[in-house]
Amino acid sequence: MQPHDPACRPIAPDPETASFYHLEACDLTADPCGGTACFVAHNSLGHERSDPNPRVFCLGRCFEGPAVGLSNQRPTIRAFSSEAVLLGRILQGHGGSLAAYCRSGGYEAFDRAVAEPREQVLATLEDSGLRGRGGAGFPTGRKWRAVAQQAAQPKYLVANADEGDAGAFSDRFLMEDDPHALIEGMAIAAYATGATRGWIYLRHEYPAALVSLDHALAEARDFGILGGGRDFDIEVKAGRGSYICGEESALLRSIEGRRPEVMARPPYPTAHGLFGQPTVINNVETFATVPWIIRNGCEAYQVLGFSSSRGTKLISLNSLFKRPGLYEVEFGIPVRQIVEDIGGGLCNGSLKGLIIGGPLAGIIPPELLDTRFGFEELTAIGAGVGHGGVIAFDEGTSIRALVRHVFSFGADESCGKCTPCRLGSRRIEALFSEATSTGSAETEWREIVNALKMASLCGHGSGLAAFAESVMRYYGKEVESCFTR
Ligand SMILES: Cc1cc2nc3c(=O)[nH]c(=O)nc-3n(C[C@H](O)[C@H](O)[C@H](O)COP(=O)(O)O)c2cc1C
Ligand code: SF4
Repeated sequence: MQPHDPACRPIAPDPETASFYHLEACDLTADPCGGTACFVAHNSLGHERSDPNPRVFCLGRCFEGPAVGLSNQRPTIRAFSSEAVLLGRILQGHGGSLAAYCRSGGYEAFDRAVAEPREQVLATLEDSGLRGRGGAGFPTGRKWRAVAQQAAQPKYLVANADEGDAGAFSDRFLMEDDPHALIEGMAIAAYATGATRGWIYLRHEYPAALVSLDHALAEARDFGILGGGRDFDIEVKAGRGSYICGEESALLRSIEGRRPEVMARPPYPTAHGLFGQPTVINNVETFATVPWIIRNGCEAYQVLGFSSSRGTKLISLNSLFKRPGLYEVEFGIPVRQIVEDIGGGLCNGSLKGLIIGGPLAGIIPPELLDTRFGFEELTAIGAGVGHGGVIAFDEGTSIRALVRHVFSFGADESCGKCTPCRLGSRRIEALFSEATSTGSAETEWREIVNALKMASLCGHGSGLAAFAESVMRYYGKEVESCFTR
C-alpha cells in the first residue's frame, strides 16, 4: 500500500461529522422541495408553504416545481446552438448504455487522446478556451496543466456532482441520461494529468444518477477504459445532504471523512488536494464537454460562443416559464432571448426578475435583459453565469420574502467558520421576517452585508452579499419599504 493511499488513512468516525449533514436518514420520497425555484413557484400560485425539518433545498425538479419527493419525469430538452456539444447524444437517444454511446462515437476521443502525447491533450484543452462550468469559470486546461506539472505522486481527480445551486438540474440529466460522457472526460483528464484514481462526489438528492453511474462505471471497466490494465479507476462518493460540500475544499474534506468546513487557499487543490495530493477538481459539465473537444478539435469549439466565454452552456429554466426545460445555448446570446424565445416568457403575470446561477448571485431585473450571456458580461451587472440555473420570478414573490428565503438557506447551509455568514445570515432572515420600523434595522442589514462582503472565506458568504447588493441596487424602494411601516 502506498503511503498516500486513502485506504491507509484513518477516517474520522461518523459521529464527528454526522451533525454537519442534513439528509443522511432521508429517502426524499415525500419531501417538499424548499429550493428557490419551488419557493417562487409556490408564491406564483399563491400557495401556503410549510418548512419541513430537515429542509431539502433542491431536488433538481425546478422545471416542474413546486415539487414534492423524487420523480422520473424528464424535462423538455433542446439545443439552441449550432452544435449540440452536450445534449447531442441525449437528443438522438444515444446516451445511456455503453453500446449506444459507442455507436455515436463514444470513447473515440479517449482512444485519440491516449495515442497523443499528454502535452498535446493539454494544449488542445487550453486552446479550446473551455472554462469551468461549476461557477467560477476558471480555465480548465490551465488547471489540468498545474496538476500535470506536479512531481508528487499519486495524483487524483474529482468530479463535482454536488449541483447545489438551486435552479440548476443540468448535471442531474447529464449523469442520468449520458453518464459515459462524464466518465470519458474523466478518463481523458486522468491521462493528461497522470491521475490514477478518481471520485465522483454525487449529491444525496440524485439517487437515480447513482444507479446510472454505477452501471456505466461497471460497463467502462468491462470495456477496458477503467481498472484492469488501465492505471485509473473511478468510484462514486455519495453526499449526505450539505450545500457547502459543493465548495471544493469542503468537498475534498467530505471525501476524506473529515468535517467538511471550508479551508483557506493557498495551497490550492492542484498542489495539495485530496489526502494532500495534487488533485484536479472539475464540474460534471466541464468533464462532459471534453470528449467533444478532443474529437472535433479546439478550433471547432473556439468558434462557438463569444468574447472570453467560448463554447456552449447548459441552462435550466424553471416552471414559471411557458417552456421550462434543459437547453444548450451558445455563450453570447442576449438574456432576453433565453427568457422570451427559448422560455416563451412567463406562464402567468409579468417578469419581476431573474436569478441566474443560483441564489448566491445578483438578480437580473427586466430592464437589463439585453445583457449578453457571458461570464464577464453578467459579472459587470452584479450577476453571474453560475451553473446556468435560470429562475424567473413574478410579482407573487416579494423582495422581503425572497431575501428571507435566501438568507434562511444561507444560514442553514453555512459551514460556520466565518461569523458574518454563521450569525449574520440568520440575523438578516429575522430582520426580513416582519415589518421592522426602525432605521437601526436598516443600518444593521447594511452592516452585515458589508461584513459578508469583506470577511467571508468562501463564495457562500460573498455570494449572499452579492445577492443583497443586487436587491438594494435594483429593488431599492421595495427594500426600503421593509424598514418603514
Ligand atoms: C458555496 C459554493 C458552492 C459550490 N457548489 C458547487 C457545486 O454544487 N458544483 C460545482 O461544480 N461547483 C460548485 N462550486 C464551485 C467549486 O468550488 C469549484 O470551483 C468547481 O467544482 C471547479 O470546477 P470547474 O472548474 O469545472 O467549474 C461551489 C462553490 C462555492 C463557493
Ligand atoms: S463564508 Fe460561510 S460557508 Fe464560506 S467559509 Fe465562511 S462560514 Fe463557511
